[in-house]
Amino acid sequence: MSIRTLQSLGDLTGKTVLVRLDLNVPLKDGAITDDGRVRAALPTLNAVLNAGAKVVAFSHLGRPDGAPDAKYSLAPVAQRLSELLGKPVVFAADTIGQGAQEAVTSLQDGGIALLENLRFNPGETSKDAGERTAFAEKLAAFGDVFVSDGFGVVHRKQASVYELAGLVPSAAGLLIEQELSVLDRLTTSPEKPYAVVLGGSKVSDKLAVIDALLPKVDTLLVGGGMLFTFLFAQGYKVGASLLEEDQVDTVKGYLAKAAELGVEIVLPTDIVVASKFGADAEVAITAADAIEETPFGASGLGLDIGPETAAKFAEVIAASNTVFWNGPMGVFELAPFAAGTKAVAGALTKVRGLGVVGGGDSAAAVRALGFTDDQFGHISTGGGASLEFLEGKKLPGLEVLGWA
Ligand code: 3PG
Ligand code: MG
Repeated sequence: MSIRTLQSLGDLTGKTVLVRLDLNVPLKDGAITDDGRVRAALPTLNAVLNAGAKVVAFSHLGRPDGAPDAKYSLAPVAQRLSELLGKPVVFAADTIGQGAQEAVTSLQDGGIALLENLRFNPGETSKDAGERTAFAEKLAAFGDVFVSDGFGVVHRKQASVYELAGLVPSAAGLLIEQELSVLDRLTTSPEKPYAVVLGGSKVSDKLAVIDALLPKVDTLLVGGGMLFTFLFAQGYKVGASLLEEDQVDTVKGYLAKAAELGVEIVLPTDIVVASKFGADAEVAITAADAIEETPFGASGLGLDIGPETAAKFAEVIAASNTVFWNGPMGVFELAPFAAGTKAVAGALTKVRGLGVVGGGDSAAAVRALGFTDDQFGHISTGGGASLEFLEGKKLPGLEVLGWA
């Protein structure tokens, strides 16, 4: 498998290089709570800047509605980027308007500008290819060549990801190259035993990846909100826990298919049940088939896997040579429901072979729980993108860079 890389763009000295990043970081009250994606952008930016080029960088942040919206401004990201690069970042107050034009014109060789949020412009995410192309042409006019390095967004057919790459010489950046080298190992030659740990709230978000992975893995561990649909499919009562009743038959199908393929689906045997959703809830640990038998009865809310389950998951992870994990095991943002996610993360740091944390949210979770990037084999910056890659889908942002 290969893709066009930076070398294919030739000597960049004196050139203006457009760089698409995924700087979609979590923000709270205007402050960045996890700068992992900004740090992940540095190798490519430094490589291009050190080559004596000018960099015009851009990204989306959140999902604004095609118009400026102050709460989605990249201004705090520009500041963080400047701190991490150790040089000024000229921040443009718009994406393709006068502010952007002035920022680009002001650049010296080795200088960098960051444009305002791409998604403040309807052309970026338009369903109409012509509208996307018209927007991409405006971006293309700012530079000579294009480096695509926003791995988290390569599954989106959007102007700055897809159309732009066809308008000027284009190549993948170092982050995309690194992500692909790891994810490709997961799909083409995973060392066995191979375990996949899936969490997150909705099973409906994970159907395609379960379909694609069942024939490839030895063990599938299920946690997070989605586990309750699995328990329900087994005939258990789940109280007021998250349940997607319309997915129960699908889940039953997975359980049957797994049995047929000899794949073990490991479901939780105990659950942390809360009296309500909140850090100050009353909490009870109960068997997975007795969720409604706590003092909270049918109003009990399962918010994390229990300690017995966490230990079992850790044991399976430790016995595997390849592990891919996507999605928290519980509501890790609230301390009483963080233990399951913490146990899985801890086990993943000790995995013998390749342990991969998939996704922006899962990556932010492990860092929020006190782990560091170097403890894991690989932390993917793309959640949806890494899942779709593992599903075997063709990703527009990779196809257009010659990925084959
Ligand atoms: C992400 O956070 O998953 C990526 O930045 C992509 O964002 P999107 O799902 O809004 O396209
Ligand atoms: Mg996302």
